[in-house]
Amino acid sequence: MSYADTLAQVFDAIRRTIPRMGTDRPAIGRGDGTYERCHDSHWVDGFWIGQLWLAYAATGDGVFLDAARAQRPYFIARLDRPESHDHDLGFLYSLSLVADYKLTGDETACRGGLRAADGLAARYNPHGGFIQAWNSQGEHDRNRGRMIIDCMENLGLLFWASEQAGDLRYRDVAVAHAITTLDTIVRPDDSTYHSFVFDPDTGERLCGETVQGFADESCWSRGHSWGIHGFALAHQYTGEVRFREAAVRLAAYALAHLPGDGVPYWDYRLPDDAPHYRDSSAAAIMAAGLFLLADQVTDEAQAARYRDAARGMLDALIADYTLLDQPGAEGLLAHGASHVSRGYEDNMLPYGDYFFVEALLRALGRTAFFW
Ligand code: GLY
Repeated sequence: MSYADTLAQVFDAIRRTIPRMGTDRPAIGRGDGTYERCHDSHWVDGFWIGQLWLAYAATGDGVFLDAARAQRPYFIARLDRPESHDHDLGFLYSLSLVADYKLTGDETACRGGLRAADGLAARYNPHGGFIQAWNSQGEHDRNRGRMIIDCMENLGLLFWASEQAGDLRYRDVAVAHAITTLDTIVRPDDSTYHSFVFDPDTGERLCGETVQGFADESCWSRGHSWGIHGFALAHQYTGEVRFREAAVRLAAYALAHLPGDGVPYWDYRLPDDAPHYRDSSAAAIMAAGLFLLADQVTDEAQAARYRDAARGMLDALIADYTLLDQPGAEGLLAHGASHVSRGYEDNMLPYGDYFFVEALLRALGRTAFFW
């Protein structure tokens, strides 16, 4: 079956889920193929509306437009709840209001996207040169000085805002954060830390740590995929070779550590006696990132290697991880590992679903997305 055929099935599945989802948003899959719904401050809120906007962009079908617009009041209202904001403003608003603006030119959506970018830029710590990831519970909370690799993906909101508002302030924050990520989170052997902790008052670099990976010195595969896709995005916006080279380094590490079918285990450095769950979302994000990176490198053979690897991952996902033949399923991909140490090790994940759609569209040659 061709990728176009798979994509047609994907859009049918999304169409089927629209009336079931209503104005809810999927959070994490249950064993029966349904999704738990998001609470009102969830970081994953944007991935369903992102799929709706991608489906509308690709098909022009008003069903997807209406469903995306039905979600919009939530995202507008959440702008007025700063206590519900963290660095994931990028995930939330690139895929909702920025997508709306890019596809429809709606000015309210544009203003909302810029407000979200203001919130993200305000999290910048000038001492350490990083965007604070999560909110802290007081002066001594380690999260005051924590950045995480996932944030590379959130920088797209700042790059977009900079171009949209003609204001370099957003871009400067994004570039500084990307450079700090390269200097701290990317290790000399091209593996990555999940997070890095600073003294928030002096900027002193303290240490790398994990939260969702196996160990501080291991390499959490989804985080690594955020790095590949995110550094390639930073290169797309800035033309800076060091960001493209960072994506190249991370891709080389991942490709050398994948299991045979190309779908990563949840961590690239698992001891033999650790549980070996797959993370389909890490594969989907990486496949999308490799297609993007293939368009950026100048060596044709290298580009072909990335495209082949990305297609291999998509083929494995389509063959063994999709739920497209299950009409009752509310998601697209099974076997995502959200947070293994908390027991979320084998679920449908809305970001796996979103990036599966993005990767399929990239495989078919689409280059315009919402980041
Ligand atoms: N950004 C959080 C995660 O990837 O689980």
